Amino acid sequence: MSQLDIVALTCSYGEHQVLSGINLTVKPGEIVSLIGGSGSGKSTLLRVIMGLTKPQGGAVRVENKEVDYDSVQSVRDIREKVAIVFQQYNLFQNMSVLENVMVTPVKVQKRDQHTVREEALALLEKVGMRHKSDAYPANLSGGQQQRVAISRALALKPKILLLDEVTSALDPELVGEVLNTVRQLSLEGITMILVSHEMNFVREVSHNVAMMDQGKIIEFGPPAEIFGAPKKQRTQDFMKRIAWH
Ligand SMILES: Nc1ncnc2c1ncn2[C@@H]1O[C@H](COP(=O)(O)OP(=O)(O)O)[C@@H](O)[C@H]1O
Ligand SMILES: [Mg+2]
Repeated sequence: MSQLDIVALTCSYGEHQVLSGINLTVKPGEIVSLIGGSGSGKSTLLRVIMGLTKPQGGAVRVENKEVDYDSVQSVRDIREKVAIVFQQYNLFQNMSVLENVMVTPVKVQKRDQHTVREEALALLEKVGMRHKSDAYPANLSGGQQQRVAISRALALKPKILLLDEVTSALDPELVGEVLNTVRQLSLEGITMILVSHEMNFVREVSHNVAMMDQGKIIEFGPPAEIFGAPKKQRTQDFMKRIAWH
């Protein structure tokens, strides 16, 4: 069974077609990375999955259930199953770290506060942030805030986690700690779609890599193939242009 099926998905901003027939299947526990140049449609694909941007055509199915992006309930359902972390971590500044992680499970999902608290502390422990439970975002580094943002997403118990360039806004010396958090999650079997420019990392953690160009997936396969022997000229050029470090 697949966990996520994307079939012939299209999306436009006005006249500008941004996704042109995306097909992608993600199996449970699989990590698929989206790579490709700026403007190739990576973020839009994740936004469409979440119901933040409406598709024009095609289908998204989570566990074989098709999402109806015109239905408020259906979009609500998908946000119970899929969580996203953005480049800008957007923590609630007026809440402590622990409150940030607890707020949606308690206020929106109406789950038991005591249980949520225990789970939130365990998640913060996992990302190495439990000792900052009572701190406020303004007093944390960007890397620490991003790790809190990842635990906040995990507190929703998503079936699928989408990560959109979660290290791109960080100072270089803070990138490693966030990648380590994601690396640890990747070992736990959570299904992920990852957008990242950290190519060594992508190569290490992904089961499959999708190369996007102009709203299409132009090449798809295991990292050894995509990085080691890319077939498409566009992929080869992209590999040459990106900074490897
Ligand atoms: N809100 C928007 N309105 C109009 N055009 C947009 C909007 N968001 C993105 N685009 C355009 O869609 C294309 C794909 O963008 P995006 O999905 O952000 O690419 P990527 O994440 O791969 O850099 C780009 O040409 C971008 O300019
Ligand atoms: Mg993007």
